[in-house]
Amino acid sequence: MPRPATAEACVAAIFDLFERSGGDTYGEAVTQLDHALQTAHHARAAGDPDALVAAALLHDIGHLLQKHGQDAADRGIDALHERIGAAWLAQAFAPEVSEPVRLHVEAKRYLATAEPGYADALSPASLQSLGLQGGPMSEDEAAAFRAHPHFETAVRLRRYDEMGKTEGAVIAPLSAYRDMLTALAARAA
Ligand SMILES: [Fe+2]
Repeated sequence: MPRPATAEACVAAIFDLFERSGGDTYGEAVTQLDHALQTAHHARAAGDPDALVAAALLHDIGHLLQKHGQDAADRGIDALHERIGAAWLAQAFAPEVSEPVRLHVEAKRYLATAEPGYADALSPASLQSLGLQGGPMSEDEAAAFRAHPHFETAVRLRRYDEMGKTEGAVIAPLSAYRDMLTALAARAA
């Protein structure tokens, strides 16, 4: 998709994607839309800045853009949704939004190495995709990742990602984020 001309058009494109594909499931108990809303909810509840709340909301948008997110891991595909999503978001948002998105899979690989018990607590689908995504980082990879300027936010986003898979959670709808997303896109224009 080309860069939308205005912040409003960019946000409209995002809403359109959720409208068309937000009801998809992807091996978890919740839909893409529910997962996005829950992940954003946890970022906001933790007091994170708008850019990270937006990153949380949009972190899996690559799945919606590519449309083979649905059980891709079951078919042995590493869909690289984080790169597709981040590249698309980088057209309209600052790196504070797109970089945690790009790194949220690396953050899972990092935590699987750095935090005992982390991998065991992953959902079955997330554990399955971890293998396709390269598995836990080596010590050298982990050290390099820690030095990345967006390391902290990527790890924070990853934790909200894991928390955002609760069936039937009642939280703010997508429309609650429209003004914030428009302001972030306008700021980056
Ligand atoms: Fe996710």
